[in-house]
Amino acid sequence: MLSLLRPLLAALLYLLLLLLPGGESRFPVYNNGFHYQDISNGNGNGEIYFNGVRLHVESPQHAVSATRGSSVILPCHFHYEPELTKPRRTRVKWSWLPANSINEPVPLLASGRETEVMVAMGNRHRSYGGFRGRVRLRRSVPGDLSLVINELQLNDTGRYRCEVIDGLEDESVTVELELRGVVFPYHSQRGRYNFNFFGAHQACQDQDATLATFEQLFTAWEEGLDWCNAGWLADGTVQYPITVPREGCGGVDLAPGLRSYGQRHRFVNQYDAFCFSASVKGTVYFLNHPAKLNFTEAVQACVGDGSQIAKVGQLYAAWRLMGLDRCDAGWLADGSVRYPITKARANCGPPEPGVRSFGFPPAYLKFGVYCYL
Ligand SMILES: *[C@@H]1O[C@H](CO)[C@@H](O)[C@H](O)[C@H]1NC(C)=O
Ligand SMILES: *[C@@H]1O[C@H](CO)[C@@H](O)[C@H](O)[C@H]1NC(C)=O
Repeated sequence: MLSLLRPLLAALLYLLLLLLPGGESRFPVYNNGFHYQDISNGNGNGEIYFNGVRLHVESPQHAVSATRGSSVILPCHFHYEPELTKPRRTRVKWSWLPANSINEPVPLLASGRETEVMVAMGNRHRSYGGFRGRVRLRRSVPGDLSLVINELQLNDTGRYRCEVIDGLEDESVTVELELRGVVFPYHSQRGRYNFNFFGAHQACQDQDATLATFEQLFTAWEEGLDWCNAGWLADGTVQYPITVPREGCGGVDLAPGLRSYGQRHRFVNQYDAFCFSASVKGTVYFLNHPAKLNFTEAVQACVGDGSQIAKVGQLYAAWRLMGLDRCDAGWLADGSVRYPITKARANCGPPEPGVRSFGFPPAYLKFGVYCYL
């Protein structure tokens, strides 16, 4: 029910945004959320005390990559020049621009602007939203405001801002967080070009994945992904990666690269999806079973083995990150049949590694099954 309501709500929100007069509500506004009322909390005459002192905020790394489920440290340090004789009360605010909202012209569904991750002053701190209980400051040496995020999720990627505020000055630095994973094209059981943006978003989630960002698809293209069907990306654009230019895929005169249709209408236009999946905690395995199974039997067989039938994103992650290699076609949770090959060989599909797909065969046909535990 909720999934039916969501596009409707988004449509309403979109209309509201269009009807609003000012630019303010349609475009991201940068506001650090602090009031500067305590400029005199140093020695009582803040401004004089502070003359000629500069606040420096730095990060030795501007991009950090990590695996799903692990912990990551986003480095951030501050110091004063010249050094202060008396410590000042500094606050830090970590905020976040989700990867999927970069380049969004109109912020739909509350994305498109920085949201708060954590604020801290002295020993007091507060974390927000999905970060609550998962983040802390490292504080390994004086001036260390590095952010530690535990149990990384697929949708934690994006640009994090470390902002230090001491009442007089306000300096910040950003750190990009990427997850190591795999991009895969996905189309609906109803056929090609059957997802609007929201359908694509949901389809990736159903496969234990998320819509790929432009950066993720670009990396996949650099690593050789070539796919001649256009799919939605998380920023609402529609693109496809071509390594070997050819007719019907942008033509032979166009250099290899990502072919982009730009931003498409999120409700009306229909394409496939590019999903992103990262390492999974469990294991994907081909079930040893004496007989081949139809789809209903396959679902049951995994349950009988104490596990669940695997999702497409889990199979891709196991293939790419764990080296799963099996030349047996098996059912997956969405009703598709696939098998993962890391070392290409005779009778196991094309001469490159890849996840081979039989599409969505009729449910009465018999295959093996991939389970996830
Ligand atoms: C991010 O992913 C988590 C876990 O999959 C989910 O609970 C959460 O709602 C997601 N957050 C957003 C903003 O999509
Ligand atoms: C699969 O086979 C079982 C019998 O083992 C049958 O009851 C079921 O209807 C079949 N499912 C499909 C989708 O054909």
